[in-house]
Amino acid sequence: MAMITRREAGIGLITAASLTAAGAWPAAAAAAAQAIELPQPVTGGGKTLAEALSARRSTREFASEALSLTVLSGLLWSAYGINRPQSGDRTAPSWRHSIEQKIYLALPDGVWLYDPVEHRLLPHLAADLRALTGTQDFVGTAPLNLVYVADGARMGDVSAEEKRLYAFTDTGFIGQNVYLFCAAAGLATVFRGSLEREKLGKALQLPGEQFVTFAQTVGYPRT
Ligand SMILES: Cc1cc2nc3c(=O)[nH]c(=O)nc-3n(C[C@H](O)[C@H](O)[C@H](O)COP(=O)(O)O)c2cc1C
Repeated sequence: MAMITRREAGIGLITAASLTAAGAWPAAAAAAAQAIELPQPVTGGGKTLAEALSARRSTREFASEALSLTVLSGLLWSAYGINRPQSGDRTAPSWRHSIEQKIYLALPDGVWLYDPVEHRLLPHLAADLRALTGTQDFVGTAPLNLVYVADGARMGDVSAEEKRLYAFTDTGFIGQNVYLFCAAAGLATVFRGSLEREKLGKALQLPGEQFVTFAQTVGYPRT
């Protein structure tokens, strides 16, 4: 079972209270198709916004080191978590308040769906689909590829073209949240539009009107 690494302990976002077994990846969860509860995200301290903006960049070389649940918790909350519990509103805006975005995680042990309401990961597919999430070599070996998906059914009675326009825009805000979290946490990331969307959507067995918009690779920088 993976333990919290010195890198994570040094990034300034991890408190002593979060350095528990809750931060380790439960290797058996995918096989057992169990949801994984994420630890509470750390929402205080860390780098300033200006420091994170200064460090933001795209990186395409990743170490194979896995990301712990503690890191995933902060990453996913920053990406699209609930920042106003009374209304359930999110860290990223959405066109007409559609809240149509979904984040699938392509990890070595399978594909998971982020559930922002319960702040947990739901098992989706027990298959390593990382290599299908893009056309670049690093996607198959990087520890995590986020696949951004929009649920067109939540976007009302507008044309398919409009749905795609606004869904792709909404994903961009999430992508920047991920960039800034990674910059603050010493992680490497790149937002990606070079991917075979239909093929990936089929492989992901997306239900209903869900369609892939972009992907984003996350990991530790290769040193
Ligand atoms: C909509 C969009 C799509 C992108 N698609 C890819 C991609 O498929 N592969 C990739 O390596 N980088 C991709 N990028 C990252 C850009 O290449 C990168 O942001 C740009 O080179 C500027 O570098 P910087 O992010 O370090 O400032 C994409 C960025 C955006 C905004």
